[in-house]
Amino acid sequence: MKVLGIESSCDETSAAVVIDGRQVVSNVVWSQIKVHEPFGGVVPELASRNHLRYITPVVDSALRKAGIAPSDLDGLAVTIGPGLMGSLLVGVQFAKAMAAATGTPLVGVNHLEGHLSASFMIDGIEPPEFPYVGLAVSGGHTSIYLVEGWGRLKLLGRTLDDAAGEAFDKAASMLGLSYPGGVVIDRISRGRNVAAVGFPRPMLRESTMNMSFSGLKTALKRHLETLPATPDADQTAEIAASFQEAVVDILVARTVGAAVSTGVRDVVIAGGVAANSRLRERMDLACRAADRRLLAVPLSLCTDNAAMIAGLGYQYLFGVLRDAECPRGIDMDPFMRHVSAG
Ligand code: KG4
Ligand code: ZN
Repeated sequence: MKVLGIESSCDETSAAVVIDGRQVVSNVVWSQIKVHEPFGGVVPELASRNHLRYITPVVDSALRKAGIAPSDLDGLAVTIGPGLMGSLLVGVQFAKAMAAATGTPLVGVNHLEGHLSASFMIDGIEPPEFPYVGLAVSGGHTSIYLVEGWGRLKLLGRTLDDAAGEAFDKAASMLGLSYPGGVVIDRISRGRNVAAVGFPRPMLRESTMNMSFSGLKTALKRHLETLPATPDADQTAEIAASFQEAVVDILVARTVGAAVSTGVRDVVIAGGVAANSRLRERMDLACRAADRRLLAVPLSLCTDNAAMIAGLGYQYLFGVLRDAECPRGIDMDPFMRHVSAG
């Protein structure tokens, strides 16, 4: 079964063709990073205007790369939230028009469930077994779920303020590094002393699965104010590595803690920040020590992409859920869950 996925929830315009929910035959991602870079963050109005401009060529390119025509598709899937409303509307309206024109069934899916379900597309690896613990960690979200099945996600803990990716991006901007900062912090931190600056680990002593990252940002600001001069490249790299270590400590402790307390075996990490090399390394060690299996989503499927949306859409359209009553997912508007064609 060939499903075309469409993703436009933030600043990536993406379309992908996935076969039987696992085999990615094309995954075109048009990133707007250059558009938003001068502003240090995503400007919603610019994001929706750029989606409008690129959605047609991006979908076209995904179909061409897969060597198929719209009439060959068995299903369509589109992200319906959470995300920027103007950006989401572009993808949803495009998908609805395509469904109406071709008579192909269309399903609306949740972006966060999409991120986590990319763990079903890891080459040569057995997919996670339900229930699993999933950390969805990106520029807009940092949440830990107990995933009991498709569309059945129980929120165990989340950030009470900034998302981890947002913390990375803001820290990078304070350090004079380019946007999006998470990638740069990851790169310059490699091989550096992670204890050069003693950043706090907010809330870690509290018996909750929630997290907080905004205090870390304040601690960085204060640290920079105490320095006699603007840090040079070496000092910047050490500060970045120490900051990253604090974020990673919080994410690892909470995620593995959630797996241990719920007694589940499989741990999934997904979303843009799951591309972080130190997080992957530390999470792997912690999962091994706790006798859990880590499924880290491949780098190409960590940041926003439509392959994860197509894979998830397949499950709703043709997988085990097909004849079952569709359960309600997270943050899901039930009216929008299934958008019928025509
Ligand atoms: O999932 P994503 O593409 O978009 C959202 O749904 O937010 O995530 C983007 C976020 C940005 O904050 C970016 O700085 C962060 O993911 N990110 C990273 C890395 N790659 C992307 N953060 C840390 N290390 C990375 N290697
Ligand atoms: Zn995302």
